[in-house]
Amino acid sequence: MRLDKYLCETGCGTRFEVKKKIKQGLVTVNGTPAKDGGMIIDELQDYICFNNQRLSYEKDLYFAFYKPAGCVTANEDALHKTVFDYFPDDIRKRINAVGRLDLDTEGLLFLTSDGDFLHHLISPSHRVPKTYYARLDHAVPNSAIESFMQGIDIGDEKPTIPAELEILSEEDCFSANLKICEGRFHQVKRMFHSIGCEVIYLKRIKEGAITLDGLLPGEYRKLTEDEIQQLKKKAN
Ligand code: URA
Repeated sequence: MRLDKYLCETGCGTRFEVKKKIKQGLVTVNGTPAKDGGMIIDELQDYICFNNQRLSYEKDLYFAFYKPAGCVTANEDALHKTVFDYFPDDIRKRINAVGRLDLDTEGLLFLTSDGDFLHHLISPSHRVPKTYYARLDHAVPNSAIESFMQGIDIGDEKPTIPAELEILSEEDCFSANLKICEGRFHQVKRMFHSIGCEVIYLKRIKEGAITLDGLLPGEYRKLTEDEIQQLKKKAN
């Protein structure tokens, strides 16, 4: 990769700024001051220092993010913040969201720079379970547990595949956890709609075994090596 690109991606500044810093002699490659931002370096092998500090490059990035309600899972939006606005420039340039959550849905969203990982996770054959907590405008009937397990018609060509519904409150039955292994457009909202309930609040709380784990809205953390391997295993 080009040295200037590497410096930008490791957070040393913009293309313009890193060019200046190279000119000032602040960047060394294997101990020798660099002269040209266009120089090709091996980002995994070369010893690159900026201001006498060694830089380290992560080949791929994997994040768990707590998407707040009111931000969009898109690269740009004229009206709303995007999920990428929560990341510093050098990171946001490298990552993509794994699937999407609706504007008003909050909760767990993975973002990664690893294209293979992303495609495996979003492919229809890869059925990592996703659990959502939903609050509804009507009490969820007990019969929905069986219907969701059997699969229901939500207006698509095929019925949904088996999904696990847990009705949460004995008293009002207005909230539930729903575990699905698909990712159809507005799937959770459409499933509840088909049984006469409208979703008034929706939060994704789990994907595979991974939870928000103490994150607050707008916060992110790196996935651990174990978590990445778990998801890759399921993905293959
Ligand atoms: N299902 C929905 O209806 N909305 C989401 O954001 C995610 C799943």
